[in-house]
Amino acid sequence: MLDRLKPQAQDQILILIQIFRDDPRCNKIDLGVGVYKDASGLTPVMRAVRAAERQLWEVEVTKTYTGLAGDPAFSAAMVRLILGGDAPAAAIATPGGTGAIRQGFELIRLAAPGAAVWLPEPTWPNHASILAYLGMRTATYRYFDAATGDLDADGLLSDLGRVAQGDVVLLHGCCHNPTGADPTAAVWREIARMLVARGAIPFIDLAYQGFGDGLEADAAATRMLVRLCPEVLIAASCSKTFGIYRERAGVLLAIGGDRAVTQGNLSFLNRQNYSFPPDHGARLVTMILEDAVLRADWQAELEAVRRNLLALRHGLAQALRQATNSDRFDFVGGHRGMFSRLGLTEAQVHVLRERHGIYMVGDSRINIAGLNTATVPVLAAAIAQVL
Ligand code: LMR
Repeated sequence: MLDRLKPQAQDQILILIQIFRDDPRCNKIDLGVGVYKDASGLTPVMRAVRAAERQLWEVEVTKTYTGLAGDPAFSAAMVRLILGGDAPAAAIATPGGTGAIRQGFELIRLAAPGAAVWLPEPTWPNHASILAYLGMRTATYRYFDAATGDLDADGLLSDLGRVAQGDVVLLHGCCHNPTGADPTAAVWREIARMLVARGAIPFIDLAYQGFGDGLEADAAATRMLVRLCPEVLIAASCSKTFGIYRERAGVLLAIGGDRAVTQGNLSFLNRQNYSFPPDHGARLVTMILEDAVLRADWQAELEAVRRNLLALRHGLAQALRQATNSDRFDFVGGHRGMFSRLGLTEAQVHVLRERHGIYMVGDSRINIAGLNTATVPVLAAAIAQVL
């Protein structure tokens, strides 16, 4: 049996981790996978997470199962974080944001096997990969204008005009991955209006709340869609926002329909795939969100992370202006979140890796957090050389 397996194509983001590790050059720069790094290159455990772990160690007396949907206190805390108040959402805890995406796609397949899932072009490559694996119908809508490095708002709205009733439209709630280009508030309103008119269901991937314009601002589009659309799915990740990548904590929310029936289906999907979801990371998140002191410290640290990313963005935009003697890369300063897509060719990305030891995804997506004040001018000079 096993000798019938065919090799799988490797994930183009994750493959970089190994190639980077194997590169012996000491001045190499990792702008690949999307994890936050401080100026020394460390992905720190956030202060509030450490404090919550200490507390948990003191008070936790059992590791017995929670519920199939996870701890209801976790879902309730995440609903308040994302939606700004209580909302009648069916919810399951999931292994990370990817788990929530996967369970969301499976819920769509259960409810409406013929529905197409519309993906922005481009999007996080694993969206399309999971949908293909599940054998689901997909379509794409235009999203990014490579010439300007900005959102292709006209293309996006025109393509959403072709969405059929009951189709699902996947949207990045903030900090679009891989481009870094987000819709303006006015374009978000148009998107919501279009989805309501077409009878389509938004599925919001929210993995970077707090990394763009702040915790509240980054949830604004999601909240507006929840206000206006009768049904909404939200897959939220705690990996980045709480820096607990390896703990695998995420949540899938489903709003609309018969809440009890939806909840039963979500719990059923958890049971089929992995039974009880992981609890440790979710418990830390709940403790942080429910404790005023831990929460304030977490918010302060997250805000410092956000400001650091913004400062690096502006520094890089300026350095690229000087190095290339043009405004071609000014868009980097206007983008938000961890990523920007620079608009370099695969060949240029290759030269940056081979000759300069600078690693980015093949579509020229860079992780801004992989930079520091010393490496910003190094990257800008190298880009100017390969142009
Ligand atoms: C990324 O896009 O780099 C992250 O979301 C990590 C991943 O799993 O791909």
